[in-house]
Amino acid sequence: INTVVFENSNTASKAVANEIADLIREKQKENKPCILGLATGSTPKGLYAELVRLHKEENLSFKNVITFNLDEYYPMEPDSIHSYVRFMKELLLDQVDILPENYHIPDGTLTKSQISKYCNDYEAKIEALGGLDLQILGIGGNGHIGFNESGSLQNSKTRLVALDHITRVAASKDFGSLSNTPRTAITLGVKKIMEAKRVVLMAWGEGKSNIVSQSVEGEVTNKVPASFLQEHNNVVFVLDTEAASKLT
Ligand code: F6R
Repeated sequence: INTVVFENSNTASKAVANEIADLIREKQKENKPCILGLATGSTPKGLYAELVRLHKEENLSFKNVITFNLDEYYPMEPDSIHSYVRFMKELLLDQVDILPENYHIPDGTLTKSQISKYCNDYEAKIEALGGLDLQILGIGGNGHIGFNESGSLQNSKTRLVALDHITRVAASKDFGSLSNTPRTAITLGVKKIMEAKRVVLMAWGEGKSNIVSQSVEGEVTNKVPASFLQEHNNVVFVLDTEAASKLT
């Protein structure tokens, strides 16, 4: 896996924003849509702030951009302060000129019986557009990508998953307590992530250094779903010095 190390997450986020801006502009010239896979969590906040700045100050338009978010808690109301819909709208989508019909975030309000068809349709929409041009990822302390937890298969599809205990403990900071933290989520499967033409995984801080080193230098194993990325032909891990500190 190709790794690029920056002094801090600010400079790293700006570099990733520039790569995305270049891709959006290149697609604009070709009159084509730019299909982006997006993540939530603390890691991409600086990236979204920089994309908003590029829109407001440097004329970057999102009119040709179509986005698919990786995941959403289930169940989850879109207007809840905990929803990824709200997160994405506040940090990016409502601040740029993306068309409302062009962004997609898994729906946390479905009934259980609607989920599997919904997930198939979510993947079909991505396929109909020719796949994801670029997928942004963070990484969980346990190596999850999206909410594909340890044990997820490399060919796993978009689906309802049970969240690992350690994922729920991390999320409980936002939800106030563990008992308030959802037990399940809808996630894009590993297969669609692996099919993206380009994957950019970002990780910041000492706390991610062990799992980054396992993912990049350890064996490819479904215990660490991010290690599957070793088999992707166009992936980069964008790291700050701390997150890279355990790489040999
Ligand atoms: C979020 C997602 C997760 C996070 C991961 C890291 O959409 O898919 O895989 O990227 O849990 O979270 P943070 O960035 O909060 O450390």
